[in-house]
Amino acid sequence: MIILKSPQEIDRMRAASRVVAEILEELREMVKPGVSTLELNRHAEQALRARKAQPAFKGYHGYPAVLCTSVNEEVVHGIPSPRRVLREGDIIGLDFGAVCDGYFGDAAVTVGVGGITPEAERLIQATEEALYLAIAKAVPGNRLSDVSLAVQYHVEACGYSVVREFVGHGIGRSLHEPPQVPNFGTFGHGVQLVPGMVLAIEPMVNAGGPEVEILSDGWTAVTRDRSLSAHFEHSVAITEDGPVILTCR
Ligand code: MF3
Ligand code: CO
Repeated sequence: MIILKSPQEIDRMRAASRVVAEILEELREMVKPGVSTLELNRHAEQALRARKAQPAFKGYHGYPAVLCTSVNEEVVHGIPSPRRVLREGDIIGLDFGAVCDGYFGDAAVTVGVGGITPEAERLIQATEEALYLAIAKAVPGNRLSDVSLAVQYHVEACGYSVVREFVGHGIGRSLHEPPQVPNFGTFGHGVQLVPGMVLAIEPMVNAGGPEVEILSDGWTAVTRDRSLSAHFEHSVAITEDGPVILTCR
């Protein structure tokens, strides 16, 4: 059952989403050669505390951190570590969630560490473009597959592949609510979108093949061919006036 949100609830959801956007921006500025992924997590934790917000990920199915830091061939759910020190040329996915007043916000960006290769730059750009193309389809009357196919079409036209094992999701008083929001689909499928739905749309894009595997830490998803992977995410409300990105400042 998809839980629809009233305009008042969507306003309340902005609070958590804004916290997520603000902290992601701070983290993005911290990303430099020599910084460890644990330092990023620590900053995120302090920044949440300063805003009297709660982490959305810590403790979720036992996840041990407030932030996911996924470097290079890591697709999603990389666990921050003092041993993972960023190097020039890396790319890092920062996936972050917060809870304010019982409502969740969830967003992700992928950024380069110092100078990166043109190939890495293109992958990041294509993934972000896919997210915005998908958001543009998040309008009343469209189907969920219009959102999913917007991602898949753009990603595959760029010569990349979409990850199938992980999907976007509804979001509200829980981090994950129905419906699932895949990054691939079949035309004319899925529920019709109506005002009040709030979706976390999150393309995960591999430079090589679509297959992923999970490392022995039980969390970190990596590309099976160890090609680079990028991830962007916004929490988006569907309204009469079109899509509203909640995870912005
Ligand atoms: N953005 C991811 C998601 O929506 C982050 C979840 S990480 C977890 O699933 F640790 F909370 F699982
Ligand atoms: Co998400």
